[in-house]
Amino acid sequence: MRIVLTGANGYIGRRLKHHLLRNKEHTLRLMVRNPNSLSPWVIGECEVVQADVMHPQTLDAALAGVDIAYYLIHGLAHSNFKELDRQSAQNFLEGCIRQKVSTIIYLGGLGDKTTGSEHLLSRIETGEILSSRPDKVRCLWFRAGVIIGSGSASFEIMRHLIQKLPVMITPKWVTTHITPIGVEDVLRYLVEGLTLDLSHNTIIDIGEEVMSYGELMERVSVAMGLKRYFIPVNFFSPKFSSYWLVLFTPVPFSIARSLIEGLKSDATIQNNLRHTLFSFPLHSLEAAVHTAEAEIETNQVLSRWSDSGGIEGEVDHDHDLSNALFIDRRSIPLHGASPAQVYRTFCAIGGDNGWFGYDGLWKLRGLIDKLFHGVGINRGRRDGAEVRIGDSVDFWKVVDVVENERLLLFAQMKLPGKAWLEFKLHEGHLIQSAYFYPYGVLGRLYWYALVPLHALIFTTMAKTIVTRALAHDA
Ligand SMILES: NC(=O)c1ccc[n+]([C@@H]2O[C@H](COP(=O)([O-])OP(=O)(O)OC[C@H]3O[C@@H](n4cnc5c(N)ncnc54)[C@H](OP(=O)(O)O)[C@@H]3O)[C@@H](O)[C@H]2O)c1
Repeated sequence: MRIVLTGANGYIGRRLKHHLLRNKEHTLRLMVRNPNSLSPWVIGECEVVQADVMHPQTLDAALAGVDIAYYLIHGLAHSNFKELDRQSAQNFLEGCIRQKVSTIIYLGGLGDKTTGSEHLLSRIETGEILSSRPDKVRCLWFRAGVIIGSGSASFEIMRHLIQKLPVMITPKWVTTHITPIGVEDVLRYLVEGLTLDLSHNTIIDIGEEVMSYGELMERVSVAMGLKRYFIPVNFFSPKFSSYWLVLFTPVPFSIARSLIEGLKSDATIQNNLRHTLFSFPLHSLEAAVHTAEAEIETNQVLSRWSDSGGIEGEVDHDHDLSNALFIDRRSIPLHGASPAQVYRTFCAIGGDNGWFGYDGLWKLRGLIDKLFHGVGINRGRRDGAEVRIGDSVDFWKVVDVVENERLLLFAQMKLPGKAWLEFKLHEGHLIQSAYFYPYGVLGRLYWYALVPLHALIFTTMAKTIVTRALAHDA
């Protein structure tokens, strides 16, 4: 059997890939937009096809000879996600029909069509499109609610609120009912779905316990070993709640808004097919929280909500950024620091490790970015030391990593232009370069206004990297 996994660099897809690779009885093909973001060992273990669902002609190579296709494609970060998701589901279905794929396995969201948020309605529409030609392709449609797992947006939000706020004023949507599920259980359903012998479209709601959002928050706090107090009030509008999340958690406004909208209506299991078709027991909510916490504490987070979507502004290894209109370059001799240690030091930039000087200014920039509905600086890092292509590092995205040589970050904050930050080792020097391609006059004014700040920040950054590497070597 040949299986194709789409969304292989997404939150669910990255984890599912590891489970599917364990089963040697089938051939796994990964469909990705950016093969550079896959580890070399993963590429050695499976087939890799570069394809973009918005370019239907690329789908034939991805789907040729495939029996079962996982559809985990999602464009929530885009403002026009409804149109994009509709078109991508349609393109994918047509590709599957052309290539005679027998089954699509899709993971969507729990909730009701009559009361659902725009985001949920779009996920439902995707499922309906994928299920619309049962004569040609069957669709196995799993529906999950709030996913409890390290790196999941919903769990990250809860964790940050619980850790930061001993007393929480909560909007009335905390009475909404939901069915949470641990990410490992979601993956198990998706894997075992391969073995179901279905002759027709099937929708399976997954999860077990139904509870209010308030109860979920309380139980997660207790599982985290924290006593928290929740005071529900009526005056929180969805917009105000979204800003609240933006301020206290790592998610940007667009994601906060769509998650809050989703919490206004119940998202609970509607059918019992999971019991008929599967027999494994689910982890308790508390066990899922403990696993997530342990993964975070031991730097074992496999994927995060902000890992996908690294395409925009991407450059390849050989791409020459030196034609950028503005370049701020600092060249610092290593002064005897080992290149490997300097590499490790600059790869640890961001998150809890800070920005090697003037962290207050970086935080202020992040706050301004969030106020303008940007991603902000508090997305942090997946891992305190390791970086891989596609990782978000605060408001940057890793677009190239060459071991002991180079780290290239693309700026995802709101900017009147495109910017990259590069760290490179060359002939006993650390070469640190900020590249900026401005948009029009505003972009140019922005760069000139920041020249004095750049002089401070970037000089200190480069020097601190070498000083810290030297201190570590000593
Ligand atoms: N995460 C949750 O908490 C949760 C909860 C319930 C249900 N679900 C469902 O699970 C599914 C997967 O969600 P997720 O959280 O894993 O999503 P995600 O992290 O946002 O990942 C989305 C994936 O879609 C890919 N993609 C986007 N546009 C594409 C295009 N034009 N061509 C090819 N690939 C494209 C992205 O590729 P790049 O990496 O190249 O950008 C990425 O790998 C969704 O249907 C979602 O509704 C998720």
